[in-house]
Amino acid sequence: MAKKQIDAKTANVISAQPRLHQRAGEIQRYGTVNHLLPLELEEPVRLEMTAQLNQLLADTMTLRDLYKKSHWQVAGPTFYQLHLLYDKHYDEQVELVDSIAERIQLLGGVSIAMAADVAETTQIERPPRGREEVPVQLSRLLDAHQVIIRQARTLARRASLIGDDGTNDLVVSEVLRTNELQVWFLSEHLVNVPLIKAEEPSAAGAA
Ligand SMILES: [Fe+2]
Repeated sequence: MAKKQIDAKTANVISAQPRLHQRAGEIQRYGTVNHLLPLELEEPVRLEMTAQLNQLLADTMTLRDLYKKSHWQVAGPTFYQLHLLYDKHYDEQVELVDSIAERIQLLGGVSIAMAADVAETTQIERPPRGREEVPVQLSRLLDAHQVIIRQARTLARRASLIGDDGTNDLVVSEVLRTNELQVWFLSEHLVNVPLIKAEEPSAAGAA
């Protein structure tokens, strides 16, 4: 009773004391969009685009984390170059994550954010916690890129068709092009070419 009286007394008092451990209901539910935005994009368009962008976001966040895992756990003679390359790609994926998430918010939606929610949503195969060989790391990363590239092309076409040119531009100019370039840099590490001694030309090749 005494505590209640104190709470009532202090509830609206201006004070330098921080008010800790606060909780309240959500101000916007996940999977919804705001009604009133002067974007000249109808609500159904923004609903569809934010849903598809959230899938792309979950997969991009997963690829981002797969790059950091690979950066830390890489082993072998190519350790140094891959350690650096993985981190460069990680940084570029971080930029994409922010661009996609902020596109969702500006369309009036709610961006997926936390690891547990991302893990439930992503289409990318979960790797083991332990370390894997370089060819396996590279293959996992390329598979993840493939999921994102496929999705990005579909999303870009759909965005263009229903009039969301901004999403189309983001997905093509940033997401698709960055992923395509990273695929090139990774896949060249999986080509089996001699390191020290060139192959002798075969009899058939020399003829
Ligand atoms: Fe590092």
